[in-house]
Amino acid sequence: MGMALITGASEGIGKELAHLFAAAGHDVILVARNRAKLEALAQTLITRHGIQANIIVKDLGHPQAADEIYHICQTEQWPIDYLVNNAGFGLLGSFVDTELATETDMIAVNVTALTQLTKRFLPHMVERRSGRILQVASLASFMPGPLMSVYYATKAYVLSFSEALQQELRGTGVTVTALCPGPTNTAFKHRANMNNPPHVEKSSLDVRHVAQAGYAGMMKGKTIVIPGFPYRTFVFLCRFLPRAWVSRFVHFNQKQRL
Ligand SMILES: NC(=O)c1ccc[n+]([C@@H]2O[C@H](COP(=O)([O-])OP(=O)(O)OC[C@H]3O[C@@H](n4cnc5c(N)ncnc54)[C@H](OP(=O)(O)O)[C@@H]3O)[C@@H](O)[C@H]2O)c1
Repeated sequence: MGMALITGASEGIGKELAHLFAAAGHDVILVARNRAKLEALAQTLITRHGIQANIIVKDLGHPQAADEIYHICQTEQWPIDYLVNNAGFGLLGSFVDTELATETDMIAVNVTALTQLTKRFLPHMVERRSGRILQVASLASFMPGPLMSVYYATKAYVLSFSEALQQELRGTGVTVTALCPGPTNTAFKHRANMNNPPHVEKSSLDVRHVAQAGYAGMMKGKTIVIPGFPYRTFVFLCRFLPRAWVSRFVHFNQKQRL
């Protein structure tokens, strides 16, 4: 059935994606920093679905992490048929006040590790003429993000990178899908120091729905997946509005989350 490597599998969207892969009979390799959570999830998936589930405990903020993950997979002879670059985090705050160390780490996890893992595993997929990559981007990929400037910029990179690769890879049997969810009910907001006002909480997407949309889109080889009709409409409308207006709108919204 094939093997999936999923980063950020200890919680949230990544954990739900791991459930979906396992339920479909795929073996999984779960990557994150929290060993206890990864072990518990692996055990649940093995018991529930009778698949193979292995864990790799890594901090993707470390420059060598992606290479180390790749070498473990090579040594263990785990052929990666599905790569899910999901690990990521954000930080709310004015750029003049936020910690550079956190933002440097964010770029390392959201951008550098995602790029390195893609670089490592993609050639094997192309050689086999089969493979699927799911890059978890965001609604943030489509617009500038005042008060979360670095996070939005990292997600713009993920979308641009994924669309470009999808084009380069036409005819190879390998596809790259960017999953672009709006606010989703996970631990993301706490890690990002966000206090969502009630209307944002109310319109937050269900994590299972987001994972299902991403999984289905990746399997179909879609280029972009935006879960939820209102969010698809929002992205469509943004194309026709001046960027400065969109930036002002995002700024207004983010202020309410401080
Ligand atoms: N929730 C939203 O509103 C939303 C909206 C759009 C896009 N997204 C994107 O969706 C992805 C998943 O986020 P989520 O909402 O599921 O958040 P989450 O519940 O906080 O999960 C984040 C996952 O990433 C892992 N991670 C974070 N830093 C890591 C590091 N340095 N090394 C390895 N793993 C790391 C975490 O595991 P450990 O802590 O165990 O390492 C965790 O498994 C992210 O890329 C995020 O940007 C989220």
